[in-house]
Amino acid sequence: MVKITYFGHSSVKVENEYTSVFIDPFFINNPSPTIKNLNSIKADYIVVTHAHADHLGDTVAIAQNNNSLVLSNSEIISRISNYDIKCHAMYISGKYNIVSGWIKFFPALHGSSFEDGTYGGLAIGVMIKLDGKMIYHAGDTGLTVEFKAIGELYNVDIALLPVGGNFTMDCADAAIAAKWIGAKKVIPIHYNTWDRIAVKEQDIINSFQNITELQILKCNQSMIMD
Ligand code: NI
Ligand code: MN
Repeated sequence: MVKITYFGHSSVKVENEYTSVFIDPFFINNPSPTIKNLNSIKADYIVVTHAHADHLGDTVAIAQNNNSLVLSNSEIISRISNYDIKCHAMYISGKYNIVSGWIKFFPALHGSSFEDGTYGGLAIGVMIKLDGKMIYHAGDTGLTVEFKAIGELYNVDIALLPVGGNFTMDCADAAIAAKWIGAKKVIPIHYNTWDRIAVKEQDIINSFQNITELQILKCNQSMIMD
């Protein structure tokens, strides 16, 4: 049984009964109605897709609380490894085996600076294989032909795609991405957190109509993959 939980913005947890992978855990400064008590957040692994504060988020605190292993690009890991946390640096095409699956990094077309403006390496997207299910979290990215390669090489069950526009794909671009990926189902992310990425739910529904199945998760809502 694989469970996916959405915490608003790009903050997503993927888990089965043995392990959990958190992608871009963002709680304290997340305007979405998320949990604000970090002690209740559990994670065996944390993936940070890029250095922007809305993705690096509360990674360090959650990793310290849980003794989680943080996976990210070399620049982000070299910055956060000063804290007392377990880290693993890898880069695009890097693959890390976990119980009943793996975590693999893919290109994302986006920047990745830290809040102080220093270089945070290349942004990534991530594929998680867990219990035979293929779950792709695109991170922050524009529309890129890389999605065609993913579609050719992987059988993606669920794609978590940014739809908010301005910094990433909007819902029209994300629908093209979904088609190229050949995703069986899409969960929209990275929208309605701020006015600049506001999207009407009906526009998302219209964009994905006749492309793929859409699963809109509310903040703190989970879905079980069948
Ligand atoms: Ni970003
Ligand atoms: Mn972002």
